[in-house]
Amino acid sequence: MRQVTSLYEQILDYSSRADPYPLYTELRKTPVSREEDGTYVVSTYREIVALLHDPRVSSDPRNFPKDHPRREPILGGFIAMDPPDHDRVRRQAMRHFGPPHDPGRIDGMRPWFAEVVSGLIDGFADRQRVDLVDDFAYPFPVTVITRLLGVPREDEPRFRGWVDTLVEAIDPRHGRDPEYERRRDRAMTEFSRYMADLADSHRRQPGDDLLSGMVTDPGPEGPLSREALLGTARLLLVAGHETTVNLITNGMLTLLRHQDVLDRLRREPDLVFGLVEELLRYEAPVHVLPNRVALDDIDIAGSTISKGSPIALVLASGNRDPDRFSDPDRFDPEREDNQHLGFGSGIHACFGAALARTETQIALPELARRLEEPRLVADPPQYRPSPVLRGPRHLAVEFDRVTA
Ligand code: HEM
Repeated sequence: MRQVTSLYEQILDYSSRADPYPLYTELRKTPVSREEDGTYVVSTYREIVALLHDPRVSSDPRNFPKDHPRREPILGGFIAMDPPDHDRVRRQAMRHFGPPHDPGRIDGMRPWFAEVVSGLIDGFADRQRVDLVDDFAYPFPVTVITRLLGVPREDEPRFRGWVDTLVEAIDPRHGRDPEYERRRDRAMTEFSRYMADLADSHRRQPGDDLLSGMVTDPGPEGPLSREALLGTARLLLVAGHETTVNLITNGMLTLLRHQDVLDRLRREPDLVFGLVEELLRYEAPVHVLPNRVALDDIDIAGSTISKGSPIALVLASGNRDPDRFSDPDRFDPEREDNQHLGFGSGIHACFGAALARTETQIALPELARRLEEPRLVADPPQYRPSPVLRGPRHLAVEFDRVTA
């Protein structure tokens, strides 16, 4: 067992998962700090935004130092590319997903999202206690992203294991481990074969889904390479649910800790628009971006990030930076000037932001309306292991009854 020494290591340690915020306050005293392994950790809003927009900062794993665990691509797809490839592949995928080519796609699905949400809450009818993660916040976005992408919903038990294995690799604490690398390679091969078979069957028999769109209508820039297509499909399937589950669960946890806001949401459902933005700031589903590397020496905040160094951008710390947000530790669903980093910023800013917002804007008011006297069973709840995709693993909620 390695000794936990630096502030960043303490933050990554599981014991900090429930409340890393006091450690972020400490971390921001040095906006850019260097870890023993050569990683630069960036914790202040201004510096994070500057680096997210800096073309000298790469997201391509091949630019990581030799032998660094992040040299291996995790999911592939355009999140792991730099311009110009990134921009082209992102445009090719976006054509089928939303604005500007298909602007009504997500909005047009609102009634169906509401149906899925109602169906899941109807399932609570004979119960007075549920696990909000397993019974709601996980199945909802999985149902949505599988339908959107054209992946059979019933295949979830098949891809669950691959996704869990690949998500493990996002954890910055993960070093090189041959046993894990074998598991990861196997998951990657099986996941890719699965997606390739699916892409073939959609090519033969296209439906109204993203994968069919990508294989049959490549648009003005021509077809995606096989690797770009499979990487994008894997990326969308995973990014499409692994983060939204945290936003919905962190959202209910925060509401149950702020019963006054929960009561207001019941009376004023439109409060949800500001509420979701504030949740993305206050309890961000993605805490750290550990996937950047410097292509050149970069002078910033009195430090020099040397060429070739890995960079970790602590988005959730930037979201609590008092130099950017007034009273940052206060949860205020009516906060103005809320340019949070919940969806990142710059060229890699979240591709699915409109979808995630819409799902959460529908889910939270409906949970608030239908659960009578909801209360937390344990506070803090048990968290998922990941310090990157941070959220509860389980969220037990008790209530008196479910209204119609
Ligand atoms: C609450 C839910 C979500 C949060 C908090 C979130 C957060 C983020 C963040 C922080 C990034 C930036 C990554 C980087 O700069 O390296 C990102 C990128 C991305 N997200 Fe999301 N995301 C969410 C939901 C979704 C959904 C529903 C989808 C899919 C439909 C999605 C697909 C993507 C993709 C493909 C990228 C890569 C974009 C690029 O590299 O250009 N995300 N997301």
